[in-house]
Amino acid sequence: MKVGGRAYRSIWLAEDAKDGIGAVEIIDQTRLPHGFVTRRLETLEEAATAIREMWVRGAPLIGATAAYGLALALRADPSDANLERAAEVLIATRPTAVNLRWAVEDLLARLRPAAAGARAGLAYARAAEICDQDVAINRSIGGHGLGLIRAAWEDGGRARPVNLLTHCNAGWLATVDWGTALSPIFQAHDAGIPVHVWVDETRPRNQGASLTAWELGQHGVAHTVIVDNAGGHLMQHGRVDLCITGTDRTTAAGDVCNKIGTYLKALAAFDNDVPFYVALPGPTIDWSIEDGLAEIPIEERPGAEVAEIAGVTAAGAVTRVRLIPEASPVANPAFDVTPARLVTGLITERGICPASREGLRALYPERHNQ
Ligand code: MRU
Repeated sequence: MKVGGRAYRSIWLAEDAKDGIGAVEIIDQTRLPHGFVTRRLETLEEAATAIREMWVRGAPLIGATAAYGLALALRADPSDANLERAAEVLIATRPTAVNLRWAVEDLLARLRPAAAGARAGLAYARAAEICDQDVAINRSIGGHGLGLIRAAWEDGGRARPVNLLTHCNAGWLATVDWGTALSPIFQAHDAGIPVHVWVDETRPRNQGASLTAWELGQHGVAHTVIVDNAGGHLMQHGRVDLCITGTDRTTAAGDVCNKIGTYLKALAAFDNDVPFYVALPGPTIDWSIEDGLAEIPIEERPGAEVAEIAGVTAAGAVTRVRLIPEASPVANPAFDVTPARLVTGLITERGICPASREGLRALYPERHNQ
């Protein structure tokens, strides 16, 4: 996607890398929307910090960063011991998005049997491949989701924009490019279909207000930021045609785990007959589990994210302020699970399917024996 007229991915190999091996660069997402700052990652520890501190975030981008994190570790020391240590460090950074574990395990399976001297090169090549695959997958998700938006537009007699609602940020910043939930929206806009997006602010970290609103604005897509509690009201008044969100982990039975608050939007959508779609790339499916509520670990993040809020002053300084009484305890579960029964359909790179075991297996028949 373009920022200020220049094409960016959310992660890339530094220009001074030699023969595909070198430092990696990212966009520091904690600085958006008030500043566009890129950072250079040189070591495993820096890659792990980037994931843990959410300089990068979003399930697919976390996976891509973890792949490059292993490559950075092996550039410094390609021994068996360092390979295993690096994998452990990366897997411990964030527990919910399954793409992270998927990427690390994918690389481990390829690197364990390889000679130490060949490992760094192989890791960098595979990390680059994971990034390219993510871009292709998300473009394809967009193509399938575009059909839904086009149908909604035609259904409304082409008389008014299609009103979509999304939660958190599942745009290009959450992936390597295009995004998952936002990819259909970008593609509909590019195809000339009038769209308008209700953007949930997504407390506590405000990924909607900070990142989704910024991305949509950069791309010229009409949008309105709303507080997280407004969506149900808008649905009751017929002002939402379609909800599309992302997911950090989808079970083999179609339960989806996404940013905290997604479940409440799905409930409101169900009660108001608003279609609720979830967009996901294949690597976000955890084929080893069925029951999202019982089996997905929910990340508990620092209380300061709830107790404080960051913003920019009239003088242009970015600052944090406290919102709550000093003595009040806070809880900060970062994700919730939406049961498959509340999901109208899953938009994948292979097409759209019902949120069910049968639906997913029809699209991914090679998973039949798992
Ligand atoms: O905590 P975050 O910002 O990493 O959470 C991101 C989300 O919940 C996204 O919706 C999800 O990763 C899907 S992104 C394509």
